[in-house]
Amino acid sequence: MNEIKFYNGENIPLELHKVRIVQKLHLVPIERRLEALQEGGFNTFRLNTKDVFLDMLTDSGTNAMSDNQLAAMMQADDAYAGSQSFFRLQKAVEEVLGKKYYLPVHQGRAAENILSNAYVRKGNLVPMNYHFTTAMAHITQYGGKIAELLYDEAYVINSSHPFKGNMNIEKLEEVIKIQGAKNIPYIRMEASTNLIGGQPFSVQNLRDVRAIADKYNIRLVLDASLLGENAYLVIQREEEFKESSMGEVIKIMTGLADIVYFSARKLSSSRGGGICTDNIDIYKELEALVPLFEGFLTYGGISVREIEAMAVGLYETLDETIISQSPSYIAYLVNALDRQGVPVVKPAGVLGVHVDAMQVCDHIPQKEYPAGSLAAALFLISGIRGMERGSISNQRDEYGNETYADMELVRLAVPRRVFTLSQIKYVEDRMTWLYENRALIGGLRFVYEPPVLRFFMGGLEPVSDWPQKLIAKFKEDFGESL
Ligand code: F0G
Repeated sequence: MNEIKFYNGENIPLELHKVRIVQKLHLVPIERRLEALQEGGFNTFRLNTKDVFLDMLTDSGTNAMSDNQLAAMMQADDAYAGSQSFFRLQKAVEEVLGKKYYLPVHQGRAAENILSNAYVRKGNLVPMNYHFTTAMAHITQYGGKIAELLYDEAYVINSSHPFKGNMNIEKLEEVIKIQGAKNIPYIRMEASTNLIGGQPFSVQNLRDVRAIADKYNIRLVLDASLLGENAYLVIQREEEFKESSMGEVIKIMTGLADIVYFSARKLSSSRGGGICTDNIDIYKELEALVPLFEGFLTYGGISVREIEAMAVGLYETLDETIISQSPSYIAYLVNALDRQGVPVVKPAGVLGVHVDAMQVCDHIPQKEYPAGSLAAALFLISGIRGMERGSISNQRDEYGNETYADMELVRLAVPRRVFTLSQIKYVEDRMTWLYENRALIGGLRFVYEPPVLRFFMGGLEPVSDWPQKLIAKFKEDFGESL
């Protein structure tokens, strides 16, 4: 990263870009924010952006696009089949990810659907470092199960372990021996493991997983949605790669996997997604499913303009100044909150800042969803929209019982090159205030619970009048300030 020192010694993540297009934001009064929560079932997914000040729900499809991406969109070649835009993208996939064969899909979960359809059968088990919601939902839809094989350190909030996303190699081999390799369609490794706080794995760990995959002749699938950031942290944290370029590290990682899939909404700051491989047999097995679920093989459900933006975005993934921007803001905010005593996942990872709701709301039992409650409370007092990443995001087991999450996190996403430092300071300020008034936050209960991926559209209500009490304290401390 281009470290720029400040004379006064402060460690400030200086922006190496300028803002050329801006969008006006609104900070609506706290009373309106309460109404918005009531209308949206206390679920931040269901808020309307007209009520949201800082949208930290996700980085998916919300990273700022570059001038070069927007320019490329103007030269898109509209064609159902054989579009020049597709061939430009295919070349970018080959040059950046190092894979010969590329299948376009409209977003990451579409790749998960195709992989599960092709390989997962009833009773199969997919070992992985950790699940992502949509990856797990597709595997279970096709009758499979998952096994999460992280090391214990991954669940430690206040940690300094550089690679909490590492797969537990001993456990992996044990699981394969118990299940039998035949029952395991593939091993899944997720770059910058999302749900444990955007934590990377090391290249060495991926090599070790590859060795096991080879030993038992099992396919290795890499979820590369957050690969750029994982590669950046490898350069920062893994001795062997400290002089390597982004391109070198990315190609080493993709080279270790049989199949690489990704959400372009994250990886290349565009829309779209893809599956790629060097293996012609795998390509042939998956090929027919793209026209079935997505669209013809040269667009896969993605608009041609986005295909152009994706190609440029993939090349930009090689630029450390672009990829490091979000992790540096995250590190800045993690350090600031940590200094204020707010419990956050450490070390700072990628994608966002992850606040530990289990500690902040240790007075709220898991059955009343501490992370959902904290996300709602933060929106109420600040207009900041985060995302619940705890038990609400979990799915019930096959008997309909709650499966409580290992971690109750509120994720405050920091999309690439979107926010300014004063906005980040506002997040620090309001989160700190909320932490100091945490006793006022109460729990939530479901009033509408969809059977699949319930966190998206589920509706909840507070178990008491805690939102009104929080508003009263806010008014006491901030007066008429928004
Ligand atoms: N894999 C990972 C690691 C992801 O983070 C996501 C999406 C997907 C797959 C699915 O991709 O959304 O394009 O279908 N993560 C988003 C998030 C939704 O907010 O973290 P998708």
